Amino acid sequence: MLLLTDFQSRHLHLPNRIVMAPMTRLRSHRDGSPTADVVTYYTQRARAGLIITEGIWPHPSGQSEAWVPGLSTGAHVDAWRRVTEGVHAAGGRIFAQLMHGGRLGHPLARIDGTVPAGPSAVPTGDTVHLLDGGKAPAPEPRAMTGAEIVQAVEYYADAAANALAAGFDGVEIHGANSYLVHQFLADNTNLRTDEYGGTLAGRMRFALEVTDAVAAVVGSRRVGIRLSPGNPQFGMREADPAPLYRALVAELDRRDLAYLHLTDNDRYPALADLRPRWSGTLIANVGENRERTSPAAAESQLAAARADLVSFGRAFIANPDLVRRIERDHPLADLRAEGLYGRNAVGYTDYPEYEPGIGRVA
Ligand SMILES: Cc1cc2nc3c(=O)[nH]c(=O)nc-3n(C[C@H](O)[C@H](O)[C@H](O)COP(=O)(O)O)c2cc1C
Repeated sequence: MLLLTDFQSRHLHLPNRIVMAPMTRLRSHRDGSPTADVVTYYTQRARAGLIITEGIWPHPSGQSEAWVPGLSTGAHVDAWRRVTEGVHAAGGRIFAQLMHGGRLGHPLARIDGTVPAGPSAVPTGDTVHLLDGGKAPAPEPRAMTGAEIVQAVEYYADAAANALAAGFDGVEIHGANSYLVHQFLADNTNLRTDEYGGTLAGRMRFALEVTDAVAAVVGSRRVGIRLSPGNPQFGMREADPAPLYRALVAELDRRDLAYLHLTDNDRYPALADLRPRWSGTLIANVGENRERTSPAAAESQLAAARADLVSFGRAFIANPDLVRRIERDHPLADLRAEGLYGRNAVGYTDYPEYEPGIGRVA
């Protein structure tokens, strides 16, 4: 199987092509430090060719929901170091996903209590988890000032430096799924008329500035970026994704990054359209609005040369031993709804490894 072959690029050396996709699980302490369960969870999955963590806020003003982890303090660095040490001791590799919520957030969901701000004052209409355990719609955001945008770029760079200090092998910039970078890219959430909006170059500016700032701190070979062109999640609407993403991918291609992580969706065939425009390593993901990625579907992406690596999300939650199950052709366990966003080990670290007769066919 191609999935089980090793992968060598100038920047990545992986024993297989199975990537664990970033997945928010809301298991951090209130201050954003990952708990001991988080160490167990990622260590259990260390056979992945590469683990990409759940989204991590670079600064409290980018916290999208309660219990999402952060990477802005010494306490965060110390707590994440336990995660990276666990994964490395088990033979794995792990990148930190830097995820700024932008407009997606709530004062009662974040430890600094601030009103969320994005490119423009366009509400998402979506609900977020609050610190009191409830959920509420995200309020109308403030439009960021120019100075706040410059500062946000610095927050990503600072968090990237913290990621290296915590022992991560690299960082993934979350430019997908409606988070801040995506909000700058999309025409319905970016109504700015300054240099961060308007033209295609204007809408791409924030993504490129973040990429350059992060690469300047950790080196481009340690930087990946995730994009989800046309993804309608959380009220995003991109009228015409192709010109913007073609231009963006061409710009990113000059930057010698570790990888581009693309999620496909039904509105725009991102993998087919952008693969030929990207000369580096490409990680494919099918996107959340479809059936979960199956080994057969992933294998066919590799066989068709549409990607170098494939990321698995939901299958990795239910199958900590996913790589071994693929190696041995064992059936995959199903995801339970319980504990997807829980606050303890239930539905998190309690999925068993394969035992004959227990796993159900995916
Ligand atoms: C519980 C859950 C949390 C997620 N959180 C994130 C996240 O923090 N960052 C991100 O880029 N994508 C996130 N995603 C999207 C996944 O990375 C992935 O794209 C999606 O699950 C589709 O892949 P799959 O079919 O293999 O599950 C999340 C998905 C799930 C199911």
